[in-house]
Formats: sequence, C-alpha cells, structure tokens
Amino acid sequence: MIVLGIESSCDETGIALFDSEKGLLAHTLHSQVELHAEYGGVVPELASRDHIRYLVPLLEQTLAQAGIEKSALDGIAYTAGPGLIGALMSGASVGRSLAWALGIPAVEVHHMEGHLLAPMLEENPPNFPFVALLVSGGHTLLAYVKGIGQYELLGQSLDDAAGEAFDKTAKLLGLGYPGGPALAAMAEKGRAGIYKFPRPMIDRPGVDFSFSGLKTFALNTMQKAAHQDGSDGELSEQVKADISLAFEEAVVDTLKIKCRRALQQQQCNKLVIAGGVGANKRLRAELADMIKQMGGELHYPRVEFCTDNGAMIAQVGCFRLVAGETQALEIDARARWSMQDLKAI
Ligand code: KG4
Ligand code: ZN
Repeated sequence: MIVLGIESSCDETGIALFDSEKGLLAHTLHSQVELHAEYGGVVPELASRDHIRYLVPLLEQTLAQAGIEKSALDGIAYTAGPGLIGALMSGASVGRSLAWALGIPAVEVHHMEGHLLAPMLEENPPNFPFVALLVSGGHTLLAYVKGIGQYELLGQSLDDAAGEAFDKTAKLLGLGYPGGPALAAMAEKGRAGIYKFPRPMIDRPGVDFSFSGLKTFALNTMQKAAHQDGSDGELSEQVKADISLAFEEAVVDTLKIKCRRALQQQQCNKLVIAGGVGANKRLRAELADMIKQMGGELHYPRVEFCTDNGAMIAQVGCFRLVAGETQALEIDARARWSMQDLKAI
C-alpha cells in the first residue's frame, strides 16, 4: 500500500510517500522560518496562506521524486491536529479532497503520534514496549508505549513545553526565531560553571515537568549581569553564551533525571526521543550516556525527522490505513486532540 502523507500543523509544509512494504519512498519539506522571522514567532494567518501556496507544488515534486503517478496511490494521510487550526485545515482540505477525487481512503493523523513513532522510520526501529520522551514546541511528555495507539501518559509539562522554554529564553537573549537551534548554537560558545540554573521539580515525586520558571530565572540572571561592574546595561556575546549554556544544561539535566525515573518506574530500559527538541545535541549525548550506563537502548530519528515533516505522518497514516481505519467524507481538524483518544491498532 502506497500512502501520501501531508503535514501542515504549524510552520512547515511536509509531504511524503510511504510504502507498507518498502518504507519511505520520498519526502519534501518547505520551512516557513524566513516568513515568520521578522515577527519573532509564527503568525497563524501567514502560515495558513503559505501552506496553501506550497502544498500542491510539493505534492507534485514528491510524486516525481518517487517516480510514481497519483493513480498509484492507495491512501492519503494528513495531520488533523493538534496545531494551528487554519494551517491544519489547509492540509486536511487538500488531503481529504484528493482522496475523494482519486476514490481512495483518507485517514487523519495525530501530529504527536507522528513524532512519537518517527524513530520507526530509521534502520534499527525500537520494539514495543518502550518509554518515549516527546519534546516539541507545543508538548513535553513521557509516555509508556505498549503498541501503536497504546500510550500511557506518565507525566507532562504543567506549563511551558521544553521547546517553548528554549524559544522564549532565546527571544529574551535576542537570539531570534526559531529559538531552540539559535540558543543551542550560542551555548556551544558558553563557559561551563559561570551560571547555575535550577532543575525544576526534581525534588518532587513523579515525572511531570515545569519549564516556565527557567525563563524567568534567565531574565533575572540577564538583568543582574547587565548591571554588574563593567557592563553598561548591555550583555556581551560571551555573557549571552554563558547564560545559554547554563539554561540548556538545566533543561537537558531535568529531562535526563525524569527519563531515568520513568524507565525505573516502568522497569524498562528502552528509551525513544522524539520531537523538535530531540534535535538538541546535548540532549542526545546526555541520554546516550545514561542509557549506556543502564545497559539499555536509545532510539531517535535523524535530525530532519525530529522537527516537523511529512514522513512521520505518511508512516502513521500507512499503519492506520493498513489496519482498516478511514476518515468519513468530511473535512475535519482540531487545534486540541488528546493522544489518549487514539485507537489502538
Ligand atoms: O516538533 P517541532 O518541530 O514542532 C512542534 O510540534 O512543536 O518542534 C519545534 C521546537 C521548537 O520549539 C524549536 O525551538 C525546538 O523544537 N528545537 C530545538 C532544537 N531544534 C528545534 N530546541 C533545542 N535544540 C535544538 N537543536
Ligand atoms: Zn511537531
């Protein structure tokens, strides 16, 4: 079965073709980073319009890349939530209508399920069950994954998602948008041990997170540094790098502590990292160290499949279509959608 996948939940238009036998056949991506950069964040209306502009050309490009005709498609999968409603509607409209025109089934895909199973696009996919750390711009959670659609929520962020904390702190430091990669690059020039940030909620039982305090801590640190002797109210690039490093270390360390706790609690030694913050080099290295010490397995997707992409949507859509799931003849999308509502297959 060949499935066309469409991702348009936020600021990336992604299209991919996934074959139930051969795996990923082709994928293309258009990032809207430049479009939103001058506003310092995603402007929803501009995002929707840009998806409309790029969906069809990318779709044609992806088919050409794989060397197949539309008539060879057996199903269409599109992100139906969670995300920006206008952005979601653009992909859902194209996807559902194309499936109707071709007389093939369509299926709705949950964006976070796409992220969660993205490591299965790689050569050495994880076997169920495993513990998954899902860290993106909108969500931070730990889940025990027993199978497709069987996600037991172990803990989640009570306020900002880890990616959101990266983005907001980067903005405070004047590092621009998107903040995560910019702050991580700045942190590489930072000197260790100059600043020490707290590790939120590690003294409490359970595996919930809270990241909003780190942003306030960063702001206070910046204000103090700007008024220190020798500073004229402006932060030097070195001070910004030192703060970036201390912030990144705090987020990564907190995620690591909670991952270890979740694995121990579930008596499991297999960990999967997914979502945009999963592209962070320090996070990958620290978790790899921890898993090595535990004698376990660590799985993560290649960097381009950590952030939003069509491949992860085509893959989940293919799993669900093969299992017989289909979407009725209606175009539907939802800004909020709990992963607990997904059907097990
Ligand atoms: O999964 P994703 O592409 O979109 C959502 O579904 O939210 O995640 C985007 C988030 C952003 O907050 C971005 O700043 C963060 O992932 N991110 C990173 C890195 N690359 C992307 N955060 C830290 N370090 C990175 N290298
Ligand atoms: Zn995402």
